[in-house]
Amino acid sequence: MQRTRLAVLVAVTVMLVAAPAATATDHGLRDVTKRPLVGTAVDMSALANDPTYKRLTAREFNTVTPENVMKWETVEPQQDVTDFSQGDALVRFARANHQVVRGHTLVWHSQLPAWLTSGTFTNAQLEAILRRHIFEEAGHFRGRIYAWDVVNEAFNEDGTLRDTIWLRALGPDYIAKAFIWAHEADPHARLYYNDFNLESIGPKSDAALALVKQLKARHVPIDGVGFQGHLGIQYPYPDTFGDNLERFAAAGLDVAITEADVRMVLPVTPEKLATQATYFGDMMRSCVAVRRCASFTLWGFTDKYSWVPGFFEGEGAATPLDEAFQPKPAYFALRDALGRGD
Ligand code: XIL
Repeated sequence: MQRTRLAVLVAVTVMLVAAPAATATDHGLRDVTKRPLVGTAVDMSALANDPTYKRLTAREFNTVTPENVMKWETVEPQQDVTDFSQGDALVRFARANHQVVRGHTLVWHSQLPAWLTSGTFTNAQLEAILRRHIFEEAGHFRGRIYAWDVVNEAFNEDGTLRDTIWLRALGPDYIAKAFIWAHEADPHARLYYNDFNLESIGPKSDAALALVKQLKARHVPIDGVGFQGHLGIQYPYPDTFGDNLERFAAAGLDVAITEADVRMVLPVTPEKLATQATYFGDMMRSCVAVRRCASFTLWGFTDKYSWVPGFFEGEGAATPLDEAFQPKPAYFALRDALGRGD
């Protein structure tokens, strides 16, 4: 036994000494600092089929978010027929790699199953359907999700509530109800409100702040606010992002950057990549500077699988690694910004 252990030790030492000189990407972003957690959205078919993608997902990050597979259309494709298998696979992957999972998302107006959007339900039925969905999904993953994006994208740009199936059926209190149900279904998960274009101080983030303050005053179980962080270099950087995170933290909430990417109008140029790097670095620095900024998640880490080209015509190159998994200046900007963390 002793001898076996010694042999292993010698073998490992030889391997370490013989290893080639470390390159910048030999240590994952996850190893640079304890806070924030650093994560990525995960494309489950890439994880299953692309070994490089899989290796880097495991190496670089300590939190993962399912890009699509915990959305309602995937988990309940037909009414009362649930399928959590892909979410379960991600949870298993995360556990094997000492990662936590951000669940995304319980209540949204998009990627809903057709049976729901084309159905003819009464308001009372829709409330029962939403409640049941939250109990089933959060209940299924109970104890295995670090944080849930309970409600996603509830506001318009002007700060009014978005006109959705949920607002129409339940009224504005659908948000409070969703948090109460989610907490009952999984009491240990951190519960977040999540939205895009929330980075700057302005009408939309003012409305989100007013909402979460009101929820807290009513003792509705909300723990945090997620700032998606979908930026583009053709727009000015949201300079008030850091102050904005601070004011949510000051209201007693955790904050997180949940879907960071920085797109650009193609073609890629060295100048655009340099600008992109400053946007990523600035976003990460804002998170590092705010004690209550718990996590920083990329919405994909390689251009090979990014959602951007499919959704924003003529734009792309929005992630820190290119299509060949080579680090762009943004990758090093993120590392550098993290290096100044605690
Ligand atoms: C996107 C995915 O990345 C795409 O694969 C899918 O086709 C559409 O949804 N805000 C969100 C995410 O909260 O769920 C969205 O993800 C991107 C915008």
